[in-house]
Amino acid sequence: MTDLKKPIKKAVFPVAGLGTRFLPATKVLPKEMLPLVDRPLIQRAVEEAQEAGIEEFIFVSGRGKSLITEHFEIQPELDDLLREKGKLDLLERVSHSDIPSGKVQICMQQRALGLGHAVSCARSLVGDEPFAVFLVDVMTLGEMGCMAQMIKVYNETGGNVIASSPVPRDLTYKYGILDVENEGDDVSAIRGMVEKPDPSDAPSNLHIIGRYILQPEIFDILDRREKGAGGEIQLTDAMVSLMQDQPFTSVKLKGETYDCGHHLGFIEANIAFALADPQFGRETQEILKKYINKENLNAAA
Ligand code: G1P
Repeated sequence: MTDLKKPIKKAVFPVAGLGTRFLPATKVLPKEMLPLVDRPLIQRAVEEAQEAGIEEFIFVSGRGKSLITEHFEIQPELDDLLREKGKLDLLERVSHSDIPSGKVQICMQQRALGLGHAVSCARSLVGDEPFAVFLVDVMTLGEMGCMAQMIKVYNETGGNVIASSPVPRDLTYKYGILDVENEGDDVSAIRGMVEKPDPSDAPSNLHIIGRYILQPEIFDILDRREKGAGGEIQLTDAMVSLMQDQPFTSVKLKGETYDCGHHLGFIEANIAFALADPQFGRETQEILKKYINKENLNAAA
């Protein structure tokens, strides 16, 4: 029998999407490069992976997205300049986006056929081992990164692990929704899942937040290229098939999720992350106080 507990060393980042929900900001700039306080979203996702012990980063990229990988290139001139000027704190922060040689891989998703298709594009780079998937639109804030929370559970359960969090019932049509054995538990076996159900058909209000640990057998299913919700090749549908042979576990995120793929979600995320940041938190509070003043709010309305 296959070992379903091999360590997770590789992460897949589907970043080929056009970011139409964020136009015009994303006309040229990849949405993954939008800064959440002081770092692009993609860097935050990579840091979350590194915190969880992941060592190899696979970007499923597309046309006009080369800035994303450039961001992870070491820039010796910049490093020298910062060192010369004694800006060692900045040098330290810039070095957070360095990834060792040979640990970044890129593959192309030539057509936008869905999330399942994007993940399947990474097949030859992932090989025959379990891997993590990060949807970069979604950022989470908690004491421990979302993937680190998932790996902790995976080390016990093995198999496939999905991070989840409750959403208001009327919003289930926007997400993948889980059917779990014990909805009240933080960790629960998954019985089923459905992509973007109407609230009346949703099996629970636990949504898939965009962090996955998957076994490589998912690729055979994805390669069948069956279309699901919205006419797209859905990762959720492939996971439903794999569930017939392998266990799936839901891990409820201890923390908050932010949808950074649209304007208001991104604004909220920036406020939340700035408030939580040791460098910017206190002053952000002061700025917010200024705007929460009633007069200013009325003037804006
Ligand atoms: C994708 C997944 C969905 C998940 C969501 C999280 O949907 O298919 O299951 O709940 O991400 O953001 P998308 O937002 O790409 O439509």
